Formats: sequence, C-alpha cells, structure tokens
Amino acid sequence: MRKLIEGVIDDIGEMSSLDGVCSKTAGWVTRATKGDFVKNALSGTWLGHPLHPVLSDLPVGAWAMASALDVTAGRGGAKAARRLVGLGLLSAVPTAAAGWSDWADTYGPPQRVGYAHALGNAAGVALQAASWVARARGRRGAGVMLSGVGLGVTVCAAYLGGHLSFVRGIGVNHTAFQEPATKWTDVASLSVLSEDKLVRVTVEGVPVVLVRHDGQVYALSATCTHAGGPLDEGKIVGDGCIECPWHGSVFRLADGEAVRGPASVDEPPWDVKIDSGRVLVRPATSS
Ligand code: FES
Repeated sequence: MRKLIEGVIDDIGEMSSLDGVCSKTAGWVTRATKGDFVKNALSGTWLGHPLHPVLSDLPVGAWAMASALDVTAGRGGAKAARRLVGLGLLSAVPTAAAGWSDWADTYGPPQRVGYAHALGNAAGVALQAASWVARARGRRGAGVMLSGVGLGVTVCAAYLGGHLSFVRGIGVNHTAFQEPATKWTDVASLSVLSEDKLVRVTVEGVPVVLVRHDGQVYALSATCTHAGGPLDEGKIVGDGCIECPWHGSVFRLADGEAVRGPASVDEPPWDVKIDSGRVLVRPATSS
C-alpha cells in the first residue's frame, strides 16, 4: 500500500506537463501577494509559524464533525451538520489563500505535487458546497453523501500536503538541525569586512553570514529559514536588514527577526566580538 501511494506521488512529481499551468498560476499568485502586508499575513510571518497548516484544521475539522453528526445524530443533527459544512466552506477561503501563497514559492516536483494537492482540495470544496446547497433544499440524503465523498477527497489531498512538509521538507525551518557548539570561534579578519559587503564563513559546518553595517559587525546563520536560500548571496535592505535572494524574505541583522515573508521563522542570530582585529562569533546566547 505504502509503495503504491509513494509511486503515485512520485509520478505526479515527474509530470512536467503540469509546469506550464503551474508557472502561469504561480505568476498570478506572486503578483497578488506581492505587498508586504499580504505576504506576511498569508505566510504566518506575524505568527512565527506557517499559517496554512494552522488554518487547514478548520475546514477539515468542521467537515469531519458534520459527517460524524450525519452518522451519529441522524435528522436531529441535520441543522448543526449543515452549519458545520458552511463553516468549513467559509474557513476554506483563507486556508486556500495561505496555501496558494506558500505554493507559489516552490519549484519542480514539489510544485507539481502541490498543484495536485490544491486541485484535490478544490474538488473537496466543490463537493461540500454542493452538499450545503442540497441540505438547504431539504435533500438531506444527497447532502450527506456529497459531504462524505468531499471529506474523503479532502483527506487524500491533505495527504499530499503532509507529504510536501514531512517528506519534501517544504515549509520547515531549514536551520532546525544546526547545532554548533556555543564557544567563540575565530572566523575572519575584520579587514575583510567593508560596509554592507556580505561575507560567508563556516563554523563547525554551519554557514554564517558576516556583515559590517553602520560600523557595527553582525552575524546571522546564512541558511534562510524559509527554504534554505544562501543569505550571503542576498543584499542589505531597509533599516539594517538582509534580504534572501530566493524569495525575498527579510531578516533584521540585529536579532534575525523575520520582518518580511515568506519566512515565518526568525534567522538564528550570532554574537560577535572583535579581538585584536579578528572577528569571533558564537550562537547568540540570548536567542
Ligand atoms: S529561501 Fe525562500 S526566502 Fe529565503
């Protein structure tokens, strides 16, 4: 069974025929979410956690409870079940918006699987909408059946979403497994740091970006928390921030706080000290 499911998902990931529609759709989504406020809101930058998986509990939970009422409460639960179907439909709107925003920053096989995930969810929503209409017109039997099928389709689509996170690593913090020792490490001569020039060094296998900005030397982990982009290939922007070259996440140099999505997790900051013209760093003790 497991091999069969993995084979199907791998086949979807290899379907390069989806690339045309994926790239067109990703372009629309990127344009629609270009503003900082919208991107931060949908990415969960304000929450410190991707928003889409949090919201997805609402429609799935509402529809699962509607079907549970259908099965256990019969006609006595009809009104509550219809309300739950409607609640699921309402909550599916922001859930989908957050999901599309995340999806637009993926490429290749994960983007194709993500597209199939979205199509499955759209089918689930359509079935629930049809169920709500049928229930509102007094055709409870049809409504119950449509809800049940819709829930099944949504669960299959959710499996694809889980695969993207847990197997492909989409949406996870890409610095989560970096654990350098906490001692001070001599990494560079101060003389190599000119104003706003990004310098990459490595401490026990962990890449770190150094930058001198307004006379102060800062250090952050150089692997973007969003999808692993190289921050040392980015640029200094705004008021003491660094921008990732891959999807434009922005982190504050002073403490690594994510101030612009799609990143929702802060960049690990490093303490810096200058000793006899040398730059020493260690993972920030206050983080
Ligand atoms: S890798 Fe996506 S913004 Fe950095």
